[in-house]
Amino acid sequence: MTMTDKSSYEVGAPNEQGYKTFTIGGFTFQRDEFFAHVAWPTGRHVMSIDTFLRALQRDVAWDFFYGTVNFDSVFGTVNHYGNVDMFAGRYNDAYRKAELDHVENFDSPMLRDAFKAMLDDWTNQTYDPFASPSETDKPFGVKNGSNTDAVTRRRIAAARMVGVPGDEEIRSDANGNPINRMFADVTQEEPTVEAEPGFESDVAAFNLFAYLSRSQVTWNPSVVSICKDSLFCPTTEEYILPVIHGNDRVEWFVQLSDEIIWDVQDRDTGAVRSKVVMRAGDVAAMPADIRHQGYSPKRSMLLVWENNSADLPELIATGRAPQYPIDF
Ligand code: PHB
Ligand code: FE
Repeated sequence: MTMTDKSSYEVGAPNEQGYKTFTIGGFTFQRDEFFAHVAWPTGRHVMSIDTFLRALQRDVAWDFFYGTVNFDSVFGTVNHYGNVDMFAGRYNDAYRKAELDHVENFDSPMLRDAFKAMLDDWTNQTYDPFASPSETDKPFGVKNGSNTDAVTRRRIAAARMVGVPGDEEIRSDANGNPINRMFADVTQEEPTVEAEPGFESDVAAFNLFAYLSRSQVTWNPSVVSICKDSLFCPTTEEYILPVIHGNDRVEWFVQLSDEIIWDVQDRDTGAVRSKVVMRAGDVAAMPADIRHQGYSPKRSMLLVWENNSADLPELIATGRAPQYPIDF
């Protein structure tokens, strides 16, 4: 067995199609006109570059997110908040039974840098991995420029709440956030706030529907309000959630408009657990032992409610907190 270097990654010269090859530990990543090719000591895997870049974009922007980010049923990452497992076949029953699965652990900063560099090199100038497929060009073809502004978007995260003085701004035409084509009918009226003198910086309100109608991206929850570990992370959705998210905690969904269909599977094996259809007004809690992927036939608004407590993964993994949120 050869020792692989875990402290840095290697970048090879551009291939025939103009894309660089990345070596991260025992994994190598190559792209061609249509596909991402991932290889590891016991196997190799091919994904559409479309699926791969949209998942990679989320993994980078969300800093490996909560728990597991499956790019598909084979490849992905598990966040240990400081270090990250990168795996192939680890959460796939067939790979496990054939003993072909592979996992390597890396310090988060190195893997983050490697993923950022790969995302930037592999994304062409007319492709935006955060956009709905109806609102961006195709990712395919030989290397054609880059789209660094799109792939390094700042992640919105309110310190208290959107609209509070000094915090994240309410969206408007003036700050570059026009109303999306699918939300032309959403009322833009803002509430009137009459704060007592001295409380101007503490009393605030905003129209969340109007705010979301002006989101330029899809499948990208951002923190609009925070109270201790309680994070309201609404998002607008169109087409498919680019990752299959494996939870390490419970999360709540409130469907604010339209409809999303969720595929829910066992987190570790991928065995089908349920199909959930959520329509406007529906509320669901995703248990802590599943993975899920959503399908939004029409641009919709979803509130993802996260418990950000750093203690939760350990409490749940050791059985001191339940896998589900509530007993009726
Ligand atoms: C989730 O994994 O729960 C999730 C991620 C991104 C979204 C919506 C839900 O846009
Ligand atoms: Fe999730």
